[in-house]
Amino acid sequence: MANELEWLAFDAKAVDGWIDKWFQLKSEKRIIAANLIEAMAYASLNGGKRMRAGLVCASARLAAKYSDRHPENQAIIVAAAVEFLHAYSLVHDDLPAMDDADLRRGVASTHKKFDEATAILAGDALQTAAFEVLSGPELELSFEKKLELVGSLSQAAGVSGMAGGQMLDLEAENKLFDISQVTEMQFLKTGALITASAVMGGITGGADSSMLSALTRYSKNLGIAFQIADDLLDYRGSAMQVGKPVGQDSIRGKASYVEHFGLDGATKKAEEFVEKACESLHDYAEHAIQLRSIANFTINRSY
Ligand code: IPE
Ligand code: IPE
Ligand code: MG
Ligand code: MG
Ligand code: MG
Repeated sequence: MANELEWLAFDAKAVDGWIDKWFQLKSEKRIIAANLIEAMAYASLNGGKRMRAGLVCASARLAAKYSDRHPENQAIIVAAAVEFLHAYSLVHDDLPAMDDADLRRGVASTHKKFDEATAILAGDALQTAAFEVLSGPELELSFEKKLELVGSLSQAAGVSGMAGGQMLDLEAENKLFDISQVTEMQFLKTGALITASAVMGGITGGADSSMLSALTRYSKNLGIAFQIADDLLDYRGSAMQVGKPVGQDSIRGKASYVEHFGLDGATKKAEEFVEKACESLHDYAEHAIQLRSIANFTINRSY
């Protein structure tokens, strides 16, 4: 493709289509709790950059260059699982008890569109949907690989990953975090799922252990850069542009690189993390071009 970022749009479309179909099948099979299905679909199909989906697919493609696999269809399914998990994290992140945000992806956040209880349940059910997809029959991988994928995603989502990081994020509202604590918090709340996306893509495409290590180094650095860019958008962006409330992080006393280094300093740090991310892919030369473009997009995006 002419522009490597076109892959991101291509993968996003494929994943959206798969998720849409998944909801259609669910609705046909189960007409009970139709409101819950509607809220889940609202939260997971309402746009989004699908950056984690792109990471799964790009990592699977890189791995496939060095293995005998053709993982395209399987990668889409794994990417859908990751996006379900991510959508759940956003629904809960926006709840009044957490960030209390009314806007998400340019529309009312799930608890505003429905109600709080429905949003909590939609988040719960999106989280389990991720594991239903990874363990289900549509994903045609060996049981060992499926178990590895389930292990990676559950680890990334739980107390040693996203949920743990979200707890630290809330604690930091009332406590001073030094920069290493901020880094740890950002790595957990955001980086863990980004790392799992790249690693799970690698597993799907048949990556060997040295490629999985390279993908881990790449995505650990990318995860921090991604959250710094998100924090910069909270300071510099407009709600119209980013599709969610802005200016909230400093009001709520969120810990961030911006708070420690200022806007220019944090921008520079994000660039350094992206450089380190790309260096990790050095051995894979032009085969890693999609992953490099995702890294550059991460810090140059305006939404
Ligand atoms: C937002 O993630 C939450 C963070 C972890 C910073 P994204 O910026 O990827 O959100 P969508 O999926 O594109 O809406
Ligand atoms: C991380 O951070 C969110 C999750 C882990 C879900 P933010 O709270 O900054 O994310 P946004 O800005 O609301 O998307
Ligand atoms: Mg938050
Ligand atoms: Mg938030
Ligand atoms: Mg934010």
